[in-house]
Amino acid sequence: MVGEISRRNVLGGAAAVGTVGLGGLVDPEGLGGPARAVAQEGRGRGAGLAYIGTPTSRLDGRAKVTGAAKYAAEYNEAGLALGPGLAHGSVVTSGIAKGRILAIDAAAALRVAGVIAVLTHQNRPDMASTDDAYKDETAPEGSPFRPLYDDKIKFSGQPIALVVAEEPEIARFAASLVRVQYDEAEHVTDLYRQREAAFAPTKPGASMFGPPKPRGKAEEALAAATVRHAAEYYVPIEHHNPMELYASTAIWHGDGKVTVYDKTQGVQNVHRYLCGALIIEPDDVRVMSPYMGGGFGSGLRPQYQVLLAALAARALERSVRVALTRTQMYGLGYRPAMLQRIELGANGRGELEAITHDAITVTSQYEDFFRQETGWSGLLYACANAKYEHKLARLDLATSCDMRCPSAATGVYALECAMDELAVALKVDPLELRLRCYSDRDQNTNRPYSSKNLRDCYRQGAAAFGWQGRNAEPRSMRDGSELVGWGMATGVWEALQMPIAVRIALSSNGHAEVSCATSDIGTGTYTIMAQVAADMLGLPLENMSIKLGDSTLPQSPVEGGSWIAASVSNGIVTTASAIRTELLRLAKQMSNSPLADAGPDDVVFAAGKLVSKRDASRAVSIADAMRYGAVDRIEQQKSTSFADDGSHAHNTHSAIFAEVKVDEQLGVIRVTRVVNAVAAGRILNTKTASSQIMGSVVWGIGMALQEETLIDHNFGRIMNANIAEYHVPVNADVRDIKVIFVDEVDDSINPLGVKGVGEIGIVGVAAAIANAVYHATGKRVRDLPITLDKLQR
Ligand code: MOS
Repeated sequence: MVGEISRRNVLGGAAAVGTVGLGGLVDPEGLGGPARAVAQEGRGRGAGLAYIGTPTSRLDGRAKVTGAAKYAAEYNEAGLALGPGLAHGSVVTSGIAKGRILAIDAAAALRVAGVIAVLTHQNRPDMASTDDAYKDETAPEGSPFRPLYDDKIKFSGQPIALVVAEEPEIARFAASLVRVQYDEAEHVTDLYRQREAAFAPTKPGASMFGPPKPRGKAEEALAAATVRHAAEYYVPIEHHNPMELYASTAIWHGDGKVTVYDKTQGVQNVHRYLCGALIIEPDDVRVMSPYMGGGFGSGLRPQYQVLLAALAARALERSVRVALTRTQMYGLGYRPAMLQRIELGANGRGELEAITHDAITVTSQYEDFFRQETGWSGLLYACANAKYEHKLARLDLATSCDMRCPSAATGVYALECAMDELAVALKVDPLELRLRCYSDRDQNTNRPYSSKNLRDCYRQGAAAFGWQGRNAEPRSMRDGSELVGWGMATGVWEALQMPIAVRIALSSNGHAEVSCATSDIGTGTYTIMAQVAADMLGLPLENMSIKLGDSTLPQSPVEGGSWIAASVSNGIVTTASAIRTELLRLAKQMSNSPLADAGPDDVVFAAGKLVSKRDASRAVSIADAMRYGAVDRIEQQKSTSFADDGSHAHNTHSAIFAEVKVDEQLGVIRVTRVVNAVAAGRILNTKTASSQIMGSVVWGIGMALQEETLIDHNFGRIMNANIAEYHVPVNADVRDIKVIFVDEVDDSINPLGVKGVGEIGIVGVAAAIANAVYHATGKRVRDLPITLDKLQR
């Protein structure tokens, strides 16, 4: 069944007998104290929580490794009984970066046996004409790109025709025969050439993604500082490169309706987008994405292949699949290239007196995508004077977009390298400098944190790494012919929560179906949903069926920003509480009910029963209460909106320690050890959470040493649009990675104290490695990636 994990082959036995669930969230015993600490170590069973906090294996793990899990391009049978079967679309992309299409000659393509149609801007069906119709829930300001809309070319790699054929090979061959005549215009794809033309898209403090308001007098404080450091840091364009290619299979149902299997981080976002762009009714399309082979932000916005697949299916009245090639995926969004200038001023005691942080980031000619690179600098460290500037440079490329920990991965890279350079100038240990500048308040908004245990990240990370054994002198540590370098950095990200709705249907046999239109982009959402639901309902994990990735399910935002774990688990808490109230209502109606005088907060679910918190001998089983009420299931759907009074800042933090070994003759850099100590509130699943952090660290290694999208500016075209020439870490590049979750109790952020860990793991990693490379070699490379040629310069 699509989108459903009915829990088999997971964790051997049932939940520990006698385990008390968390049904009564007012009960502090259930959440804090020793139970919590034990849960963090993965031994939570019998200590108040059966599943939350344990290293539970993925519910979808077996389906994924055996190939049973279907991805968007793998739906071959569903719904195809109708009509002539599945047709395949191959995309023709623009060979120029800017201009107009004068003519498209599809004659040769159409002569190929098996070709059904060639759709272009000239013969496509009707599409919406307003920008608003194409704006998805994550769209930036501007005029969204519309595939096959008109003759304008906005970037190289832009889709300009879709060849539809009976077989994918035929479509692809025929696509190669489509001839296009262009009226070419002059393009610019080089950030350095647009630097002077960059503009501020928003005023400081005026928008969530713009820079924060300045404080104090940064220039004066800089001038008066005892020690100053100023430098410019460069991050290139990077691409997400998820394993699964972008693809959509649009199943035509014969009645004007389509079901679209899509690769996306948000089925409802895609649903609304298709309704808007294709001018169709909500009931005309259903979007499904039960599994996703990685997204990392590239699937937050609907990608063009989904529109093309749905458009073609409706035009041809048959099912159509459109799968992109790896090279075509480089025509989607990307992490924007950026230039960042940071200036730091400190007094003689090694305390920050001033910070200025300016960024110029890349966007397209038609949308203003930006995130707050600069604000992290002013947030993190105690410093009375701070000033920011963010500018956008327009290039003839597709619009840049979110990529894992957008703004923090890059902004904190620059900040944390600058802090290392300041530490060198001050002759202070880099960790000691961070401690001297430690702040218990969000410096930008002057609010306390709901929780911040960065101190323990520093302490435990340093201890696990052996930081105290570091010789501060660059080039002072060696291992045979290799120079050894140790570097560290701080990480910070937001602990966000979004409105969400969850439905729970509890059956009298103690099974529950939990549904929400969220995605599991590979992060483990199925699994944590089952863990939280099982604990909230006091039932075995294997009794939970999780449904997600279907636009018809209860409302969910896109899965991004690390907000789904906190959001959906709290949605489950809220809905489970409504189930408890309803079951208690039935239980109280029983003659001589042992719960006759109990209120909803006086009982918890445990081991298949509603149990009085005061007297565990007073209990009614789920089965008995339902039998008495003559129902065999109770269903509740609740929305959770997270009213935030704004009194506290919510963030996750980390401390990263990295060791590199650098071959002195060749300049080859190997990252031999990384310790990443993370404070992210309650960790729901220590196994999947560790995997998130570990994957992020691997990405940090790539960001530091390998990843770079290269453009031939003569043609405005990406040169290395494939994973042979776009380098990412492989097994041989990844050595010892240790993940630590420090204990961080957060009683106010949400009932479970969850903050989310999808993105924090990458923040600071590239900086820690860059700082280690400096320590090893005495050479400071500020332009990522740090390739060996830059070390030799
Ligand atoms: Mo994440 S970059 O919000 O998918």
